[in-house]
Amino acid sequence: MQANEIRTRFIKFFGMRGHREIPKAPLVPPNDPTTLFTSSGMQQLVPFLKGEPHPMGRRLMDSQPCFRSEDIDEVGDNRHITFFEMLGNWSLGDYFKKEQLPWFFEFLTEEIGLKPERLYVTVFEGDAVVPKDEESVTVWKKVLKTNAPARKGADGFEPTIKIYTYGADKNWWSRSGIPANMPPGEIGGPDSEVFYDFQTSHDPKFGRVCHLNCNCGRFVEIGNSVFMQYEKQADDSFKPLPQKNVDFGGGLERIASASQNQPDIFNIDIFTEARKTLEKVVVVSSPESIRAVRIILDHLRAAMFMVSDGFEPANKLQGYVLRRLIRRAALHSKIADIDLDNSINLVIDKLCGSYITVDPNLGENQGRILETIRIEITKFEKTLSQGMKKVLSKVGGGTITGTELFDLYQTYGYPPELVKELAAQKRVMVDGKGFEEAKRQHQETSRTATKGLFKGGLADKSDETVKLHTATHLLHKALREILGNHVRQEGSNITAERLRFDFSHPRKLSGEEIAKVETVVNQKIKEDLPVHRTVEEKDKALKSGALAFFKENYPAMVSVYTIGKDPAKEWFSKEFCGGPHVKSTGGIGGIRIIKEQPVQSGIRRIYAELHS
Ligand code: ALA
Repeated sequence: MQANEIRTRFIKFFGMRGHREIPKAPLVPPNDPTTLFTSSGMQQLVPFLKGEPHPMGRRLMDSQPCFRSEDIDEVGDNRHITFFEMLGNWSLGDYFKKEQLPWFFEFLTEEIGLKPERLYVTVFEGDAVVPKDEESVTVWKKVLKTNAPARKGADGFEPTIKIYTYGADKNWWSRSGIPANMPPGEIGGPDSEVFYDFQTSHDPKFGRVCHLNCNCGRFVEIGNSVFMQYEKQADDSFKPLPQKNVDFGGGLERIASASQNQPDIFNIDIFTEARKTLEKVVVVSSPESIRAVRIILDHLRAAMFMVSDGFEPANKLQGYVLRRLIRRAALHSKIADIDLDNSINLVIDKLCGSYITVDPNLGENQGRILETIRIEITKFEKTLSQGMKKVLSKVGGGTITGTELFDLYQTYGYPPELVKELAAQKRVMVDGKGFEEAKRQHQETSRTATKGLFKGGLADKSDETVKLHTATHLLHKALREILGNHVRQEGSNITAERLRFDFSHPRKLSGEEIAKVETVVNQKIKEDLPVHRTVEEKDKALKSGALAFFKENYPAMVSVYTIGKDPAKEWFSKEFCGGPHVKSTGGIGGIRIIKEQPVQSGIRRIYAELHS
């Protein structure tokens, strides 16, 4: 069955069981600074899984475009992809295991037509904190019509046994992974996964015995029902949520590959036309060219959705990931001698074509998508030849150090293997170990940098940072008062030392304007205005004058911070925000603007520090 048909049937199937379809979240969540990309359907539902009532009810569903950047380097085999669609259904404190597991099984076997004998399931085997999921075992026994006892997954696969148990590393789901990695406030729970058996032979490279979670590719997980019922506490314990939820996610592409019995995900219908186009321009068919075709298909499809969502290649955050995707696709086309320049037009056309009925934006944006990708490939070709010169300058001896190697990898997208090959021909040594160390250090730094992004651009939750966060709201409003209502926040980054605020404004601020803004902020601090948090319906909050950006992408219910005597009537500032803030503005003490500078055309930046 074709992927589009599977998606339609999923929505219809759960629609008939009382679910309402929620709007898809954008691929880049605008209101969730804890993450660069939407990587799971439940992401937009966290407050509702925690107990806030959802305006569309307690049974929800959708098909959510997702991106997982951690898989970028794995793409090239027959099953890893970075962009995918997640079919999702949720029970917000409504039904639970005895409805969810049989429904999903019915969907797979009766709607999609998968053979029950090809399906196997896993459940949580329990640990010191959460007991074994006996209830799911009982439900599955009935659904799968089996009396055979569940077996420990790691002991290996046996066709007559349908139910396998695994520990938290496989059958527990939260956005941070296993329970130990979850920060306080994060929600999670045990889960039950369904696997499709492609009946391919086991590759001992992946372990002595094959089992459902083995990575050899025989078994592919096609759906995960998470029983979302715990919240991690500050003391590392788990508190039951006020309601027991179901959070189901199933990869559309994987379900399609099971339905089309294609162990190679790039052989499913979504990719067929684009793949054929590329295969026509492959000069020599080789394992490398097969890998390159897959990388190009995956990366360009992801890039297509990102550009359609408004992103441009850049040197940081999402833009950087987009840049990497396009450059990797271009690099691999070169390695495998695939003429991408002359085929890209058609490849993008075919990829857009696969989605045209479900995402009309792609059709409208197709010209811009192609143009953006082309420009980036041209830029890459320029830097590539510079990188090449760097390697060639070592001709006749010498060593390419680990840092240089990492630089080539990071800046130009050169895989170290390729540099080694170049270098070997020129009798140049390559410091592979040094490369690994440089890569590790880089990952460490970016992890810290990403952490710095958490909580709405706040580096930490220290008193100073929280004071400067509230001061940022005052500054935003003061700028609008002094300069005009065209001022909008374009970015914010706050550490304990200073706030940094980017905003739209066409000109440099005069000394007088800066002084006025500073005076207004300090005046509001002196008035010691209370800071209130409310949870409001998005539209009502917008109508009341709350400031929000990317308006259309906020969830239905939003968290709002109001600074003023009365949050309903008399306030100075009101913004969509996740907090935290001081209780009243007097706590800030005072601020001083230390710098004003341009960021890019039409955007200015202000730095300010605490100053009493
Ligand atoms: N939230 C679960 C997942 O992403 C369903 O796998």
